[in-house]
Formats: sequence, C-alpha cells, structure tokens
Amino acid sequence: MRILSVVGARPNFMKLAPVDRELAKRRDLEHVIVHTGQHYDPDMSDLFFEELWIPAPDYHLGVGSGSHAQQTAAVMQRLEPILTELRPDLVLVYGDVNSTLAAALVAAKLGRRVGHVEAGLRSGDWTMPEEINRVVTDRLSDLLLTPSRDAGDNLVAEGIPADRVHFVGNVMIDSLCWALPQAVKRDVPAHYDVAGAGYAVVTLHRPANVDDPAVLRELLETLDQIGRKLTVLFPVHPRTRERVHTLGFQRDRGGGLRLLEPLGYLDMLGLVAGAQLVITDSGGLQEETTFLGVPCVTVRPNTERPVTCTHGTNRLVAPRRDVMLNAVDRAVARRSPARPVIERWDGRAAERIVRVLCDGELVDLDSTAAAPPHLPRRAVALPQPLAAT
Ligand code: UD1
Repeated sequence: MRILSVVGARPNFMKLAPVDRELAKRRDLEHVIVHTGQHYDPDMSDLFFEELWIPAPDYHLGVGSGSHAQQTAAVMQRLEPILTELRPDLVLVYGDVNSTLAAALVAAKLGRRVGHVEAGLRSGDWTMPEEINRVVTDRLSDLLLTPSRDAGDNLVAEGIPADRVHFVGNVMIDSLCWALPQAVKRDVPAHYDVAGAGYAVVTLHRPANVDDPAVLRELLETLDQIGRKLTVLFPVHPRTRERVHTLGFQRDRGGGLRLLEPLGYLDMLGLVAGAQLVITDSGGLQEETTFLGVPCVTVRPNTERPVTCTHGTNRLVAPRRDVMLNAVDRAVARRSPARPVIERWDGRAAERIVRVLCDGELVDLDSTAAAPPHLPRRAVALPQPLAAT
C-alpha cells in the first residue's frame, strides 16, 4: 500500500508528524511525503520537521507565496505529475490551508482516494479562505477523519454519508502530548526572563486582523497597554511583521510588549504551557490552550473549533480595545488548575487514523468506547504562573 501525504504550511506539520510515526510502524506500507513549499522560511518549515522528527520530504514543490489562485494553481500543476507517476492508494491532506485544497482537487480528479485529517470543522464564515478550503476538501474526500464530535455532525448535516466519517480525535494533541516533556525541559520562560512571572503569549496573522491598518493599530496599542501590567511575548508571523513595519508602530519602550521572531514548535509550546494567558487568532492555539488549561482570548468573531469555547478555556472577542482589555482581565481571573477533558483529545488520534486507513476499521460517530473518563486533570506537571499584580 502506498500513502502519499501533502503538507505545505506550518500548522500542517504538527498534524503530519504523529501520522507519519504511526504509519512507519506498518511494514507493508510506503509513506511518501510531499512538501508544497507554501511555507519556506526555515523557522516556518525546516525547524518543524526537525523538532517533530518528520523525515525530509520525498518531493518539494517549492511553490512559495502568491495570491490564493497563484498558490493553489502552482501546487496543482506541480503535484499532478507526481500523483500520475506514483498512483498512491490514498492521498492524505491536512487541515485547511491552500495546499490542502489544491492537493485534494488534483487527487480527486486523478481518481485517487482522498483522506482528510481534521475534517468537518466549520466556522460558517465564508470570508475566511480556510472555510472555503475546508468545505471543498471535505466534499472531495473519501475518508473524513474528524477531531471532535461537532465536526462529524457538520459533515452529516451537509449530506456526507456517515460511513465515510471517522471520529478519530485530534492529532494536534498527539503532537502536543509527544512534545510537552521536551518543551517543558527547555525552560523556555527562563530564556525570555519570564520564569515564575505572569506573562501572555500572542500570535496574530489572520488577514481580518492584520491587513486593515486601523484594526492592526488598535490591536497593537491594546497589546501595548496590556504590556503595562504583564509581559506580552508576541512571536510575529512574517505576514504580520510586514504590516507592522508599514504601519510604523512604535511600542512603549518601557512596557512589557516584546515582538519576537517566529518560534519553533517546542519553544512555542514551552512558552504557552507556562503562560498566564494566550491571545491569538490561530486555530491550533485554541486547541492547545484548551488541552493545557491555559485561558485563551481569540480575536475572531467565530471559530471552527466551538468545543474550545463550550468545553475549554477559549473566549472569542472583537479586535477592540475595551472588549479585549475586559476579556483579558476575566481570562486571568478564571484560570483554574483543572484542565478540560475533550473526548478523544488523548494523544492517540494517529493510532485510530492508521487503523482506519490500513485495517479498514470503522471509528464511528456514536462509539463512546474510546472516550476518556470525564475527570478534570490537574495541571501539576506544568509550570504555573503567578497571578498578575
Ligand atoms: C497560512 C494559512 C492559514 C494558517 C497559516 C499559518 C492559507 C489560506 N492560510 O496563512 O490558514 O493559519 O498559514 O501560518 O493557506 N511568508 C513568509 N515566509 C513563509 C511563509 C509566508 O515570509 O515561510 C509571508 C509571505 O509574505 C506570504 C505571507 O507570509 O505572502 C502569507 O503566507 P501564506 O502562506 O499565503 O499564508 P499565511 O498567512 O501564512
């Protein structure tokens, strides 16, 4: 059996890693990895392969940046000859980036079976390119591997036959569980002089937050204001850095807001695990903070990961100063040592995925056999920040 995985952007790599490790245990199987090159800076790509022990890609398409159409088209054109030659039994795509959609389109049109890892998430917000990518990718997929129960419900409501949907759990959490001991051992907060202190970690890169100069300015000024109370560590995505530079934003030099280069997976996880709160517009961080029990303020009007709000530590806010300051105060106050438990976010999603792919096992939507007991876990193994003063 030959399985070909296509990845391209930073959040894809954390999803690929546990699946690759699990596939490597199967002797009669070849796993081919294609990197589209959507993300190409060493700290957005190579570092993740290294830290997550992902083997070097078998093919690198080198598509780089461009408009949505350019990027999607370049992946399609460069992937087609590889799929035509290798004729994999299954093409696995991950998440919701442009590379995901492009690969699913090529594979489906060549008659290859498509499996989608992290299927079924829906924000209902068609202004997000990721929502378009999710819906179309799911429509083209033969195996829909979902991270949460709501994702399966979304797919069934859209008319996708239930026997294609497998509630395998969240592979991002597999990577987190695998990496957390190494991340904590690095003592990353000490490296940034925030060990034992209350600090916030920030990431912002969505077009809705960073492309409009007025919105970005208000966000940065708000972070600067939060920085007067606690240190704010903000690893800046290249897209955001460019916009911040154009804006000519000057942070309060005496304050706690610190703009950093993008971080690798282990350093980011080490920082987030010890943070008092996270402010973000990333999808993955909403999940990681919920698993770690770290309060998360998400600067978006909606989320495709509602379970992080209903069962986790996540709250949605508008990109407005008053709303954000209020949300941050409340988030700090509600921090609890008990961490939420989400069904099948247990570090074993990749095992289930590989059983579905290789053994034809049905991990159905109704089965509760694999659900963990609903006991809140205490975050004793993690560094606990002091309360803000
Ligand atoms: C993409 C995904 C988004 C995901 C994010 C994680 C889509 C539509 N969006 O957004 O869902 O949350 O990745 O980071 O696929 N750039 C660099 N170096 C790089 C990569 C990008 O400098 O290695 C800069 C370029 O100026 C580029 C811009 O960032 O134009 C945006 O990159 P792109 O891949 O188009 O989208 P992201 O914003 O990273």
